[in-house]
Amino acid sequence: MTISESLSLAIQKLNQYRITSASLDAEILLSFALKKPKEFLYSHPDRQLTSGQLQKFNHLVIRRAACEPIAYLTGHKEFYGLDFFVDKNVLIPRPETELMVEEVLNHFRVTPRSLPVTLIDIGTGSGCVPIALAKNLYDASGIKYYGLDISKPAITIAKRNAKSHGISQKIKFLQSDLLKNIPNSLLIIHNSRIVVTANLPYLTPTQYRANPDLKYEPQKALVAGPDGLKYYRTLLPQIKDLSRRVASITIFLEIDPSQTIAIKKVIHRYLPKAIISVEKDLSGHNRLVIIKLNYKQPKP
Ligand SMILES: C[S@@+](CC[C@H](N)C(=O)[O-])C[C@H]1O[C@@H](n2cnc3c(N)ncnc32)[C@H](O)[C@@H]1O
Repeated sequence: MTISESLSLAIQKLNQYRITSASLDAEILLSFALKKPKEFLYSHPDRQLTSGQLQKFNHLVIRRAACEPIAYLTGHKEFYGLDFFVDKNVLIPRPETELMVEEVLNHFRVTPRSLPVTLIDIGTGSGCVPIALAKNLYDASGIKYYGLDISKPAITIAKRNAKSHGISQKIKFLQSDLLKNIPNSLLIIHNSRIVVTANLPYLTPTQYRANPDLKYEPQKALVAGPDGLKYYRTLLPQIKDLSRRVASITIFLEIDPSQTIAIKKVIHRYLPKAIISVEKDLSGHNRLVIIKLNYKQPKP
């Protein structure tokens, strides 16, 4: 069978299974199966596929027809212009999370670099957030980066991604239940600033069940108790503890837009002096909460 014949059949099958991006997906999967760029498909429409290539492609199409995400089929996802390895052990990085990276970069643009900085990404998954930050923050001042996740396989994948981006020395990836397993002494440099990024699970079980497309991703990376705020409710008191001994903490939390009022209440409860702002994603939905805690005179 030729490239163009196998593409047509695949598109037909994916359409039958109501895959809305059928043409694009078929192209991605065929170029992946052939290990060739997409342009090759159009410059060689009459090229015959070997039986091995055809078998591989058909298998991928069957999996896609069952709604398995393209990123898990190819093992790749682009995030903030960088390529990340992903598999079923980690959440596929979402475009809306690029807002977090953008806002942290803005934060560094406007904040003086006089104090040492520790950046801690909590619930790091593929490591996409700290890796994108470390690749884009070319600093001589030496920010200390940490990526934490409760999942051991996620930590292995984050380390693999840092290595493939040539920055494995820059970021320490550690397995931890939020901040529980990390001694404060490791994170705190006296009179320093801390930046926390956290895209922790924030869906409710109802939201998760309502979106069958999520069934291939780890449920533990998505669902967070009846109101989706279970992890943020535990994390904020841990951060309060940390904040007593540093000059300032800035926290970036990704949320579901429906949680805007509820998360503000949680923040006020644990961090009454916090300054809170909310940023919208490209679709105009509240997506990122920025919390500033400033302690002008840190205790010795
Ligand atoms: C929504 S995913 C986000 C992954 C990544 N930050 C991203 O934006 O693609 C949430 C991550 O939090 C991790 N996680 C869940 N509970 C955790 C906990 N108690 N402590 C640390 N990480 C946790 C999950 O394993 C998962 O990797």
